[in-house]
Amino acid sequence: MISTQNLFAQRRNDLLSKMPEASVALIASGDETIRNRDVEFPFRAESDFWYLTGFTEPDSVLVLIRSEVFQRQAQVLDNEDHVYPSDHQAWLFVRPKDPEQETWQGRRLGVDDAPGVLGIDQAWSIEELDERAPEFLMQAEQLLVSFGQLEVWSLRIADWLAGLKSQVRKGIEAPSQLLDLDRWLHEQRLIKTRDEIDWMREAAKISVAGHLAAMRVCKPGAYEYQLQAELEYRFKQLGADRVAFNSIVASGENACILHYTENKAILKSGDLVLIDAGAEWRGYAGDISHTFPVNGRFSREQKQLYECVLRAQRAAIEQVKPGQAYDQMHQASIKCLTEGLFNLNLLQGSLEDLIKQQAIKRFFMHGTGHWLGMDVHDVGRYKLDGQWRHFKPGMVVTVEPGLYIAPQSEGVDQKWWGIGIRIEDDVLVTETGNEVLTLGLPRSVEEIELWMQNNQ
Ligand code: GLY
Ligand code: MN
Ligand code: MN
Repeated sequence: MISTQNLFAQRRNDLLSKMPEASVALIASGDETIRNRDVEFPFRAESDFWYLTGFTEPDSVLVLIRSEVFQRQAQVLDNEDHVYPSDHQAWLFVRPKDPEQETWQGRRLGVDDAPGVLGIDQAWSIEELDERAPEFLMQAEQLLVSFGQLEVWSLRIADWLAGLKSQVRKGIEAPSQLLDLDRWLHEQRLIKTRDEIDWMREAAKISVAGHLAAMRVCKPGAYEYQLQAELEYRFKQLGADRVAFNSIVASGENACILHYTENKAILKSGDLVLIDAGAEWRGYAGDISHTFPVNGRFSREQKQLYECVLRAQRAAIEQVKPGQAYDQMHQASIKCLTEGLFNLNLLQGSLEDLIKQQAIKRFFMHGTGHWLGMDVHDVGRYKLDGQWRHFKPGMVVTVEPGLYIAPQSEGVDQKWWGIGIRIEDDVLVTETGNEVLTLGLPRSVEEIELWMQNNQ
């Protein structure tokens, strides 16, 4: 295993080697955001920045500069005393040390320690970014920023470029193209390396432990937030950075609201509870959905729908293997869920037409999964040249079919109303197939009932 410092340096070098000649990339860590009055939301660095630096302070900017930029500068700027770097460069702009601020707000790494600690070539104060921008932009051909962050950069970049263009009579040139960095960086992030897989395994393991802790305190009369507290307590106790996204603890018909996060209702005997939650470990997300009966026993209808979702999930997971097109897992779950609801008479007509027309959308309105990594809905394209891309070893995807029969569903027998089920695991594509990272929760009806009997 390589040292953490080398790991981040390797990521930067990989990206630099793929960037166009004479290009420069800018990546920001993000700013702190006010929650209300003078209270801030907890800060979490942007994943792109964290991925390339291992550094998590706000107000910081990484600049990656291809070596050709300096060769071109040397030709134009007739400055014999200046030593231009001969290699690609990683420069970091950080918050300067400030004893008073640090007394109130917390420690800062500072400019002097940044190169040694983070293995970058040069560090400067963030206050010098505007002043130093010509040093990395002059004679660059292309400027790469994430178009998702353009709002952050646009006015600043406009100022920098205008400043350079006003010096055209000295032979100075500004970059003439602005490109979306995501094309390079997000493709790199999509394929996880061995270290990243280790961290994702840990995120998965802690996420499983949190779900088990919530199951343990589940009983009629408890509140959804009490399960949430148990789950998140376990995450923290096991060293998780934080939750990977806002935990969903949805009992009864609340489970039919896909992003329900109120978590305030009382758990009722006879209802199911759907928990969708995951821990973040060293920046990497777990994402698990688990559905189980509040009183430990599935009703007949709950069991029928649960088993249908579980069959769909198993069929979908089988499609996660190298060379298989991404959408095959969704097709497999649609087929399985449609067959299931057709057999239960929840969907009527010809099975073939129902599948073709995607009639299941009424009860299964989301995709079967998404890339997983530092962001819960992780980066990376899903189609290449208009075609679903094929799985490759190192990709991690969630597999999460569900069924949601909203209350008062027209034309649906009342016995099904208000049942919401999702089953979600995190799956790594391996050389030979896949590995489910989130094993450890009771999954079948029998396993869940037995577990609840023995653990409550
Ligand atoms: N927890 C968000 C999702 O499953 O996509
Ligand atoms: Mn998910
Ligand atoms: Mn989820």
